[in-house]
Amino acid sequence: MTETTRGNWTSNAGFVLAATGSAIGLGNLWKFPFITWENNGGAFVLVYLICIAAVGLPIMMAELLIGRRSQKSAVGALKEAAGPLWGIVGGWGVIAAFILLSYYTVIAGWSLYYFAKTVGWSIGGLPGGTSMGDVFNAQSGNPGLQLALSLGFSIGTIAVVYFGVQRGIERIARIFLPILFGILVLMLFSALGMSGSGEALTFIFRPNFGALEPKSILEALGHSFFTLSLGMGAMITYGSYIARNQSVVKASGMIVLLDTLIALVATVIMFSVIFSVAGMADEVGGSTVGMLFISLPQLFFSEVPFGSLLGPLFYVLVALAALTSTMSLLEVVTSYMIDERGLGRHKATFISGGAIFVFTIFAALSFTDTPFLSTLNIFGEGKDGWFSTADHFVSNWMLPTGGLFITLAAGWFMTRKATESELVDGTQPGWFRYGAWRVFIRFVAPAAVLAIIIAVILGRDFS
Ligand code: PFF
Repeated sequence: MTETTRGNWTSNAGFVLAATGSAIGLGNLWKFPFITWENNGGAFVLVYLICIAAVGLPIMMAELLIGRRSQKSAVGALKEAAGPLWGIVGGWGVIAAFILLSYYTVIAGWSLYYFAKTVGWSIGGLPGGTSMGDVFNAQSGNPGLQLALSLGFSIGTIAVVYFGVQRGIERIARIFLPILFGILVLMLFSALGMSGSGEALTFIFRPNFGALEPKSILEALGHSFFTLSLGMGAMITYGSYIARNQSVVKASGMIVLLDTLIALVATVIMFSVIFSVAGMADEVGGSTVGMLFISLPQLFFSEVPFGSLLGPLFYVLVALAALTSTMSLLEVVTSYMIDERGLGRHKATFISGGAIFVFTIFAALSFTDTPFLSTLNIFGEGKDGWFSTADHFVSNWMLPTGGLFITLAAGWFMTRKATESELVDGTQPGWFRYGAWRVFIRFVAPAAVLAIIIAVILGRDFS
């Protein structure tokens, strides 16, 4: 049967978990720790937190309200909210989702490999002298393995979105997110007990502004969009399934808080390991993208009580955190096909998922020495040229520009009455001030995004 009617979340908790599931993903567990490392910690983390509060939170509310108001996905919702031309901004978001999903799936696939690997080590023991850096390079450089892992993950994502909002997306988020929180807390305690945890906390929380470069500010801003799933219509799309009695403001506060907390916890865990195990900082420094897959296995198999049990469990959870994000990305493209192109859900899911997978192939092979692909590495210097170019372009450019236009739509093109009636509807919490939101969405957020983009363009720093 083709599902043609629009679904709604079954409850507020279900929606908050699904949206939090979209926000929490590889951005928190994999990307935030490694960009914090690359940008020298402290000051970068502070800038990131400011971006989250001053730019991320107001835009989260804007996206959800635009979605809830129109009950349409990105393109239709922006057209209805701000005018016909704004469909272009929605389309920009659909393209961003398409590209993002194509490479995100590759890293998600790695978690499947590490699940299998850690199960093997738990049963057979970790062979002496194993270098986690070598294990990582061997898997990421193997073309057949990379393709198989990405294909497996794509099929999982397609399967969830195929079942729709309630039976697919919400159900998966409800079951797995609470488990993810539990495991992370457990790991945080073991990490804090390690000898390097003090050094880790200093690295993360003591700002050293001398080490902050302009491009780090763009990266912090870009990442605040990436980690909150903003700037490309994912939250507009999820917002379009919110019922009128569910609070946009409360949900936004909760999603942003949980996402930030998890990113910080993941970073504390990872850096505690890096600073505790001799030689680890060098191994990680050589392959920052591999941090989640280099420093953590070491933790499980040397330091953590019950590590051989927690290890495999952890990688299942990384896979699930990634899945709750990939399904929201595919939902952006799929719901566009349903709403704007008139396809049924099942057909739309297969067509979108299949088309995206074609590009996943390039991303999957970009860590390998595939000769054909190296000719495509027109932008990058390293082996992962295609992959990092796509990531930098989407996170640092597409999402902030998409976000900028969303602030303009909500702050300048929608009427005060329209936005106020969505945010102040009796469901909002006591701390919320509509006037303050309006100042942030009209002035602070767009000015911050614009200033940073211009500064980087003038500095010709296309990193
Ligand atoms: N927020 C996700 C993460 O941090 O891993 C990534 C993401 C998902 C970005 C969905 C954008 C999106 F629409």
